[in-house]
Amino acid sequence: MMVKACIFDLDGVLCHTDEFHYLAWKRISDELGLGFDRTLNEQLRGVSRRESFEIILRYNGIRLPEETIRYAMDKKNMWYREYLLRMSPSDLDSDVRPTLVRLHELGLLLAVGSSSRNARLILDRLGITGMFDAIVDGAMISNSKPDPEVFLKASKSLAVQPSGCVVIEDALSGIEAAKAGGMNFIAYRLHDPSLEKEVLHAENFGEILKLVTASIRRAR
Ligand code: BG6
Ligand code: MG
Repeated sequence: MMVKACIFDLDGVLCHTDEFHYLAWKRISDELGLGFDRTLNEQLRGVSRRESFEIILRYNGIRLPEETIRYAMDKKNMWYREYLLRMSPSDLDSDVRPTLVRLHELGLLLAVGSSSRNARLILDRLGITGMFDAIVDGAMISNSKPDPEVFLKASKSLAVQPSGCVVIEDALSGIEAAKAGGMNFIAYRLHDPSLEKEVLHAENFGEILKLVTASIRRAR
């Protein structure tokens, strides 16, 4: 791969907000008497708030009026934001910031590609908003992952061809989106039997840096 830009997913990659999503969905599901567990939660990674709740409803085999759906989404988001407001730069894994700095030094452009409408708030809380050349979030797209829209928008605003981008993702829906957009990708802390053997994996940001640096060297 000839990498010129890295597009990072947010929840579950740049930060651990995936756990907060789980806790907030669990709380509203409990309130409404809906079944919800960590296995089902895996299916919500990368997909929009509404689609997430639709997945929970399908799993429970029930339909709810639009009014209740809105109530559930709003309440979940309110609880979720309570967690977000408690976040600070100390919640960033220690290798995230130095890795972003190093990637910039290597001449790469950096973007965030997230389905979340709370992306800006999270990046602000972590103090890393200014480290990205482009930020595309859930409020800027019509189709959430696995649709490639979010990543294609990021590649466009960086003015880098999709083939020059590497997407870093913890969600299968995000990997599908990267593939559909014609981009390279790294599966981050994601080990799913449905992924092909040759897929690149990383468990921390040090490993992301190694993979990206190696690909730049190979291309030279
Ligand atoms: C994605 C998460 O980043 O954002 C999903 O992986 C979440 O779990 C989606 O549903 C939408 O987030 P928000 O903050 O707009 O509710
Ligand atoms: Mg994610």
